[in-house]
Amino acid sequence: MATPFLLLLLPMIFSSILLLTITVTQSEAYSKTTPFEGNKPDKLTHLHFYFHDIISGDNPTSIRVAEAPGTNSSATVFGAVLVVDAPLTEGPELSSKEVGRAQGLYASTDMKTFGFSMVFNLAFTEGEFNGSTAAMYGRNQILLEDRELPIIGGTGAFRFARGYARPKTYKIVNIDAVVEYNVFIWH
Ligand SMILES: *[C@@H]1O[C@H](CO)[C@@H](O)[C@H](O)[C@H]1NC(C)=O
Ligand SMILES: *[C@@H]1O[C@H](CO)[C@@H](O)[C@H](O)[C@H]1NC(C)=O
Repeated sequence: MATPFLLLLLPMIFSSILLLTITVTQSEAYSKTTPFEGNKPDKLTHLHFYFHDIISGDNPTSIRVAEAPGTNSSATVFGAVLVVDAPLTEGPELSSKEVGRAQGLYASTDMKTFGFSMVFNLAFTEGEFNGSTAAMYGRNQILLEDRELPIIGGTGAFRFARGYARPKTYKIVNIDAVVEYNVFIWH
């Protein structure tokens, strides 16, 4: 009678032993510093694409997910938070070749002028940078002609990246915008 019961317990015993083994093998040092040779930035890549910020209609690329009680009465929609998954295309038309996605969020964080804090991953899907991402974070005063956002890092080909993005409004239809981006990445 005891055998089936023991058999039932076996997997438990086995997994406890496994857990013990894992715990033992994971006892690596908390930190280890070595001279760093690789990934010193030595290239500058210039990327050019168009960002489609579509808020209206049935297929928006930017969706408002939060607001403050005073957001709708604020001249700068202060407090609005939008989550974005927008196509990046080679040409200004939405139908032109997609080279990546801009995924992240932006929030109105300026009470006096249209100023958005942007937290984005530029995820590239074409060519040499397919699978690589660039992290873009910064202040975007959308009414200004001349804007600049920092590129603060990246993955894949853009690991340890540094750089900057220059957005320029190409076209506005109602509340939707096509924004031309020139991005310079040192990696
Ligand atoms: C504020 O405006 C947005 C966009 O027009 C709308 O979706 C939202 O319901 C409004 N919020 C309030 C509290 O009226
Ligand atoms: C980009 O990479 C993905 C994953 O490796 C692959 O499935 C896809 O076909 C690639 N796209 C292009 C255009 O090379």
